[in-house]
Amino acid sequence: MEALRIYTEKPYQLQGEVIISGAKNAVLPALAASLLTAEEVHLTNIPLVKDVQTMLTLLAELGAEYNLKKKSIAIRTKKILSEQAPYQLVRAMRASILVLGPLLARRGRAVVALPGGCAIGTRPVDLHITGLQRLGADIKIEHGYIVAEARRLKGAEFEFEKKTVTGTENLVMAAALARGETVLKNCALEPEVSSLCELLVKMGARIDGIGEETLRIRGVEELGPASHRIIPDRIEAGTFLVAAALTGGDLVLREVEPAHLQALVDRLTFSGARIEKAGRRSLRIIGSQEIKPQDVTTAPYPGFPTDMQAQFMVLMTQASGTSIITETIFDRRFAHANELIRLGASIEIQGDKAIVRGRTPLSGAEVVATDLRASACLVLAGLVATGQTTINDIEHLDRGYEKIEEKLKTLGVKIDRLKNNNNHRMGAKHE
Ligand code: EPZ
Repeated sequence: MEALRIYTEKPYQLQGEVIISGAKNAVLPALAASLLTAEEVHLTNIPLVKDVQTMLTLLAELGAEYNLKKKSIAIRTKKILSEQAPYQLVRAMRASILVLGPLLARRGRAVVALPGGCAIGTRPVDLHITGLQRLGADIKIEHGYIVAEARRLKGAEFEFEKKTVTGTENLVMAAALARGETVLKNCALEPEVSSLCELLVKMGARIDGIGEETLRIRGVEELGPASHRIIPDRIEAGTFLVAAALTGGDLVLREVEPAHLQALVDRLTFSGARIEKAGRRSLRIIGSQEIKPQDVTTAPYPGFPTDMQAQFMVLMTQASGTSIITETIFDRRFAHANELIRLGASIEIQGDKAIVRGRTPLSGAEVVATDLRASACLVLAGLVATGQTTINDIEHLDRGYEKIEEKLKTLGVKIDRLKNNNNHRMGAKHE
């Protein structure tokens, strides 16, 4: 298992510029959408992260051919060769569920393994299923697979019981080729959903209400070719903003979309950081010496993103007072707290709340990552934990961050990637 090791003799003050990559959570639905047409879809600003490779492996199994050059891809599925998204691929990446809607719409049949839970929660897909049933799909769950069939999906009205990002994305993609009009209510408002809708419109879909809670989709007979640029990754950008706030640094982020970061920028500004536009698609952040504590509650966009909760928790360990972080989206997204406690943080979990008492000096240690954003939180903690911090099982990190250690090195951080680091697996030498 690979690990990252951060050497922190004295606290860092990150200085310099970092270029933010394309959004993992935008490129995955965009790639799935390419199944909806027999024509070529061309995507640029692709983040070279593990989840993209996993999605391409899955799409190739379904019949896609692609040519990935640097950060651009031309992908085309002339014919669907298989309707099955196998368990081992879906287990590796839950976002594989995003092929369900397109396969059903294009092919009339989809057999997709149930994703199951993961480190951050139970992660049901019941809303995806009931939504597609409303569009006329016949869906059975057999041997851990979703078996969905529909000669031709029919437009209908459907209201999501709760906001779901990939649930909205699946339904929009399915409705694009359904017969008649579909009205989806209580849709997720994340920028990645709007960007997917913009790609579908470029492919010939007819979608009204993009960016609003109600989407109106009038189905068409077929979709055509399109070119589309993947939007910047607001969570990677947020992670670097927190890194600057945490270390009292002075950082310029290039290739960002400031409008997608408002909730986080508000919280970081309140904590004492100064954040300003530094050009059309750039932000500059200057961290403060004293970090103000504050309570934060995660919420669907445009609220404070759950994908930034772990990273913000590290910042609050260095704040001068107590903060309460409430996680409302996932039922088990505090695993990173135990690892932060091992570095010296004072955090108490009470149900959906984490009470973080700052300021606590952190000292480096061996820690283990449990999921993608928990890994990012531990890298941030390593920047302020004196001594050496080794983050194990960083395969999680590689799923969603492109070359993070390279980007940190350019900002002055001493960080190495270790191959086959298993000493955290030899079990405790002493009880
Ligand atoms: C997307 O996951 C993101 N992944 C997640 O990012 C992100 O944390 C999440 O949205 C919330 O913003 C991608 O876009 C690939 P949801 P998704 O459906 O779509 C419940 C990362 O780190 N729910 O919006 O799976 C669910 O349990 C990942 O990049 C149902 O009850 O999340 C949760 O409580 C982690 N039934 C809430 O809705 C359903 O059918 C929001 O989940 C679907 C969801």
